[in-house]
Amino acid sequence: MKADAAPALARARSGGAVPMAELHCHIEGAARPALVLELAERHGIDLGGIVRDGAYVWHDFTSFLAAYDRASLMFRDAADYCRLAEDHLTGLARAGAVYAEFFISPDHAASAGVPGDAYLGGLAEGIRRAKTATGIEARMIAIGVRHLEADRVEAAARFAATHAVREPLLTGFGLAGDERIGTPRDFAPAFDIARDAGLGLTAHAGEFDGAQNVRETVEILQTSRIGHGVRAVEAPDVVRMLADKGIVLEVCPHSNLALGVYPDAASHPLRPLVEAGCRVTLNSDDPPFFATDLAAEYAFAASAGFGSGDRLGFTRNAIEAAFVDEATRQRLLQQLVVSAIALGAPSSSG
Ligand code: ADE
Ligand code: ZN
Repeated sequence: MKADAAPALARARSGGAVPMAELHCHIEGAARPALVLELAERHGIDLGGIVRDGAYVWHDFTSFLAAYDRASLMFRDAADYCRLAEDHLTGLARAGAVYAEFFISPDHAASAGVPGDAYLGGLAEGIRRAKTATGIEARMIAIGVRHLEADRVEAAARFAATHAVREPLLTGFGLAGDERIGTPRDFAPAFDIARDAGLGLTAHAGEFDGAQNVRETVEILQTSRIGHGVRAVEAPDVVRMLADKGIVLEVCPHSNLALGVYPDAASHPLRPLVEAGCRVTLNSDDPPFFATDLAAEYAFAASAGFGSGDRLGFTRNAIEAAFVDEATRQRLLQQLVVSAIALGAPSSSG
């Protein structure tokens, strides 16, 4: 067996958890409060009260975004970002993940005074160290922040297009931020730049805005994936469009519950979306902000009645939709077949 398959497969053989994969996590949003506190002290920066009793403090989407922005200011150089990526990925690998993508935000790095090269280089070094230590495979997706305006999103796309030439771990472009601001058409020039550069494309939609925004995002920005997308469930024609086109949804259940998109687990549309034929993946979004991690998202699916074969299917969907080269994708899919046999789970459901 290859070293890189070892931790997840060993767990599967012992009857343990299904191997996991994640497509939707913001790297600054993955920073543990303890790490943010440590860096704030080291760099002498005021945290502004965003951490209390070891947890982030916020109360709605706007104050969450403000806390997230503030936390990101504590990362001041390549070494800080290296540590962040290494910490995040080794934790994921130990929990049973075989593949992870994370969003990076050149605008957040610039706000912290970190040049784009140092930001990307530090994160890439963290990925390489985590792979050496655990075998986990990872890639980065640069995002534009929609509430910073369309020309900044276009600048983020140019950043992604130029830096992807030199850094093969940067493989995608996406759109995040406050969905209540701007329309998909505003961001079409940015997505044209990223598409022309051969990057994979995804965009947040159907989180705080409704199903129509999901439709327009797919039609206008031509993304193969949608971040969240859960509110598509409000319009059967949009759900049908997603299923017909095979658009992959990066579903983040605990994020939706923490941000009040749904009042409780029973109201969350994970099951109706899967039953309508949508290709769904499970993701943690900004894990310590929402008191979650990827294993908790898979546990959410288990408690919603998805068996180990179904959960393996979520992982397969993620790997099939990953912004990764074909040789790596095939190797990861092969690992899943072995895991399915070890778990006694069907290898093609989900
Ligand atoms: N940036 C970080 N987390 C986000 C979320 N859940 N939605 C939109 N933008 C984000
Ligand atoms: Zn997100």
